[in-house]
Amino acid sequence: MTTTISIGSGKGGTGKTMILANLALLLARKGKKVCLLDLDVGGADTHLLFGLFEPKYSLTDFLTRKVDTLQDTLHTFYSYNGLQFLPGTGNTLQTANMSYQEKQRLLRAISTIDADVVLIDVGAGTNYHSLDFFMFSDIQICVTLPDPTSILDFYTFLQLATIRRVLGSFLSRSQVSSTLKKQHFTSLSQVFRLAEDTQKGAREKAQLALKYFHPLLVVNRDSANARVNKKKLNSLTSKYLGIEIPPLGEIPEDSAAGEALKAYIPVCELFPDAPVSIALDTMANKLAKVIELFADHS
Ligand SMILES: Nc1ncnc2c1ncn2[C@@H]1O[C@H](COP(=O)(O)OP(=O)(O)OP(=O)(O)O)[C@@H](O)[C@H]1O
Ligand SMILES: [Mg+2]
Repeated sequence: MTTTISIGSGKGGTGKTMILANLALLLARKGKKVCLLDLDVGGADTHLLFGLFEPKYSLTDFLTRKVDTLQDTLHTFYSYNGLQFLPGTGNTLQTANMSYQEKQRLLRAISTIDADVVLIDVGAGTNYHSLDFFMFSDIQICVTLPDPTSILDFYTFLQLATIRRVLGSFLSRSQVSSTLKKQHFTSLSQVFRLAEDTQKGAREKAQLALKYFHPLLVVNRDSANARVNKKKLNSLTSKYLGIEIPPLGEIPEDSAAGEALKAYIPVCELFPDAPVSIALDTMANKLAKVIELFADHS
């Protein structure tokens, strides 16, 4: 059984790629068969963290049908416990603007990857690609920095992700769907209200779509003078978005992250004793337990 996990954030540069690349490596070290996908179609750079400067194939080759299957595009890092990797290089206009059909073909192909864990790095922001890749997974990780603007972007990202999830839960030809599609929503309660006004019972159906959406919260670049009140953030998302955001952990501000990037080696490999690596290791252990729980219950 394969568990898919995606990482997203409202704001760019929150550390998604650094976190996911290292979690991928740490899970592979634990003996899991891991496949890391760089679906940041606007700014793919995960390959650089591993020192892979010229990948033989990339996501573009799959989208343009240069290769037959997604499996053919995967690179194996033999020096990193056999970690498999889909480079997202080749930022052509075609990749960044893939059609609905191409996206569906890609998502179908991802479902067939032979791995215990598939990790998906989605681009920052709230465009449809980012939201759809983020919501596609079984488990979501969302990252914020401790500063107020990052937290606001984080909240907006989750709000739009939940709205997209709820809208997607109605059949595209249904009356509720065609009514909702014409609207621009700024809050989830507006969606629920209009759904119910259009068809009795639709509110309940919409709420059900969020039943299993509990994105795991990561606070990155944490420091003593900039702490996030996680309880308050969780009560906000619970009250206004109807979702819980269980904490996965915090990662401290640490110059080792930047040093490792410059050396093109994952920080957990280059500086295993650095505070950032220790925090990532704790996080990988917790995530491994979440994956086991998920696999047991599905
Ligand atoms: N805990 C940390 N301490 C210090 N620097 C960090 C930390 N986490 C990330 N960084 C630095 O922040 C920068 C952005 O990180 P990264 O590229 O992983 O973010 P991202 O969210 O993937 O960005 P994008 O949205 O552009 O894809 C990098 O230079 C990275 O080294
Ligand atoms: Mg990134």
